[in-house]
Amino acid sequence: MRLFQTRRQFLQLGAAATVGSLLPLSRAGAAETVREYKLVAAKSKVQLANPPFPATGLWCFNGQTPGPQIRLRLGERVRIVAENQLDEITSVHWHGLRLENEMDGIAFLTQPPIEKGERFVYEFTPPDAGTFWYHSHENAAVQQGRGLDGAFIVEEIEPPKVDRDLVWMLDDWRLDENAQITEDFDSIVDYSRAGRIGNTVTLNGRAAGELRVRAGERVRLRMVNTANARIFRVVFTFHKPRIIALDGQPTEPFVPPFGYVELAPGQRADVILDMEGKPGERFQVVDSAFLQNPYKLAEIVYEDGKPLRESPLDASIRLPSNPVLPPDLTGEPFQKDVPLEGGDLGRLRSAYLEGQQRGVSELLLNGKFWAVCGVSAFRQVMPPFATVERGRTCVFRLQNRSVWPHTMHTHGHTFKVISHPTQAYQEGRYLDTVLLGPEEEVTIAFVADNPGDWLFHCHMLSHAYAGMLATFRVL
Ligand code: C2O
Ligand code: CU
Repeated sequence: MRLFQTRRQFLQLGAAATVGSLLPLSRAGAAETVREYKLVAAKSKVQLANPPFPATGLWCFNGQTPGPQIRLRLGERVRIVAENQLDEITSVHWHGLRLENEMDGIAFLTQPPIEKGERFVYEFTPPDAGTFWYHSHENAAVQQGRGLDGAFIVEEIEPPKVDRDLVWMLDDWRLDENAQITEDFDSIVDYSRAGRIGNTVTLNGRAAGELRVRAGERVRLRMVNTANARIFRVVFTFHKPRIIALDGQPTEPFVPPFGYVELAPGQRADVILDMEGKPGERFQVVDSAFLQNPYKLAEIVYEDGKPLRESPLDASIRLPSNPVLPPDLTGEPFQKDVPLEGGDLGRLRSAYLEGQQRGVSELLLNGKFWAVCGVSAFRQVMPPFATVERGRTCVFRLQNRSVWPHTMHTHGHTFKVISHPTQAYQEGRYLDTVLLGPEEEVTIAFVADNPGDWLFHCHMLSHAYAGMLATFRVL
């Protein structure tokens, strides 16, 4: 039986959830319901920039970016038919969901690629409630970079009481003067430095717009950074965001230090915002990551008229916990140094690539600028850098031996941050994606409780493509 939850629990939850908009499918007489979605990956046009700019040619799920929001209740099962109408192979990954290996969506590693005109059926029951997302995991710098992603929300059985639950998918795009995607996806500068950072920031696929609120309202904001490489630092002027979950995993509510919510590519934050302004007031929400050039993300606009309530709600904002096993550092954990090497001004001299050790010039000729544990990735398949028995605690000391930041993501597992030199507030928290500054060392630990070969990679997608992607094996 999978460790996440028993079938009985699942059946009870499933039975409790049959009312509503589910599409019940009878299977062997069980009181099991399966929510169904269909995602079709194809070219499309979306109005990213404001008119007079034309719509931008993108690659989308169901013609929109972000793609359709998938929303379940904890315990519900979902079946997602992914159809490929692109001119190249694809696959869909469910970022942050701790699923069985065959459902993880990695072509050549966990499933065959979805060929043009074909489909793949994903079916699973997410073990955790929280804010997750999905995206193409094939040629991801290009496919995700052109728009193939969407939100994946698993609601708690008893969520905290809020007036509205909103999802903000933050993205950025590199557009030309006609608002079309620039084709320079194989830029050596992007591969070897900070990644493909765009010149246009969007929130839910639109240029900055208004968030209309009522005074006294409590909003739960689920923020997801879906950008290729941009690190967002979101400032809510006047308001005091309280973080209740990071990467879908609940945390003691806290106000983020430094006055902004920082999100590296792949990361999520669930934020409670109490609308403590007055009717008629307006406040900007900006991305302050580039101080010289802050981007406006949205404007919070208070409606005129009577406040929704006079004083903020005092209901609890704590989330129920998820069944993530805490790592046990006292026994004999599996420990591994994981050097992350390469990039411009880096010290990478050689790495293993496709069956042999190769010098740096040969790596560069193959478009490889990065290595994890001495291995540069090819097509998401390579020897695992670590093999761990199931159930054992695994400690990775991530060593960024480069002058560029990296946002390292584990598949199939959520880890605990054990030490972080510059973001002490992250220590003790559970994440699936962690940001390392230049030359930083961050230690993470998790119970290797999910068997299979799993990816571990930088979520700056040009870095991943240029080799910064590895696998670990849980036996
Ligand atoms: Cu968001 Cu390897 O994934
Ligand atoms: Cu990186």
